[in-house]
Amino acid sequence: MNIVEKIQNLKKEKNAVILAHYYVPPEVQEIADYIGDSFYLSKVAVGLQEQTIVFCGVSFMGESAKILNPEKTVLMPDIYADCAMAHMADAKTIEKMRETYDDLAVVCYINSTAELKTHSDVCVTSANAVKIVKALPNKNIFFIPDRNLAHFIAEQVPEKHFVYNEGYCPVHDKMQVEEVEKARVQHPNAEVLSHPECAKAVLAVSDYIGSTSGIIDYATKSEKEEFIICTENGVRHKLEKDNPGKKFYFTETEPVCTDMKRNTLEKVLHVLETGENEVHVGEDLRIKSQMPLERMLELAK
Ligand code: 13P
Ligand code: SF4
Repeated sequence: MNIVEKIQNLKKEKNAVILAHYYVPPEVQEIADYIGDSFYLSKVAVGLQEQTIVFCGVSFMGESAKILNPEKTVLMPDIYADCAMAHMADAKTIEKMRETYDDLAVVCYINSTAELKTHSDVCVTSANAVKIVKALPNKNIFFIPDRNLAHFIAEQVPEKHFVYNEGYCPVHDKMQVEEVEKARVQHPNAEVLSHPECAKAVLAVSDYIGSTSGIIDYATKSEKEEFIICTENGVRHKLEKDNPGKKFYFTETEPVCTDMKRNTLEKVLHVLETGENEVHVGEDLRIKSQMPLERMLELAK
């Protein structure tokens, strides 16, 4: 029996389901029951029949699945797969902003720790942030942790006053506009599709800006045949699989999230066999962090 067959058998035996983000390695995407962006995965995690969720992603994703589904067992193939940006805000600053601004909503990107979520009014992902911020009654928005996503939303919701936090994704923020321009010269017919975690200069030369699912949908529906993709290189698998006639290019320095790549078939098999790497969230922390996540699911409907 090969490793994929072993995983499929154990999944049935243990009543487990596998969720995966588009940034994990292709062979892990292939064994997933559900694959998507972080918004899709958080929605899908609610209401699953299976008792165990194996979450192939990074810690804030497994944590969110546990917060929303306390009765389920959530396993992470690699417990050290973390998102650096998830830690780039702090409770002290949030409380200071609450004292400084009247009528303030603390909007928390889902790429954040459970602790940060407890200090927030609502969570968002890149797929629903504009819709949710528009729907909030508050005039002032303190957006944590990502400054790039915050600036992108602020441009589209000019009626709100934004206060920025200096967090960023090391993978997306590092992408250089010069490399995007170079790729454009090499592929003059290609459209540039970018994730809003990229720096402003990259977004300024992009034809489309959206979540990982947004980028995949756009390229799939487009009549164009060539695309320069400005997000983590894991999306290449789904893009090429769904669009065999189209060409996808990345910048010379390919963006790689080493934490997402910690998810391997061997580790998926191991957690299914042993039940190791279970996600635990203390009940007090869980109850407080559940509210902004549930508000996101409600407002994004
Ligand atoms: P998506 O919400 O687009 O899946 O992005 C998640 C992420 O971690 C981007 O770096
Ligand atoms: Fe976090 Fe960036 Fe990796 Fe996404 S790509 S999980 S934001 S470090």
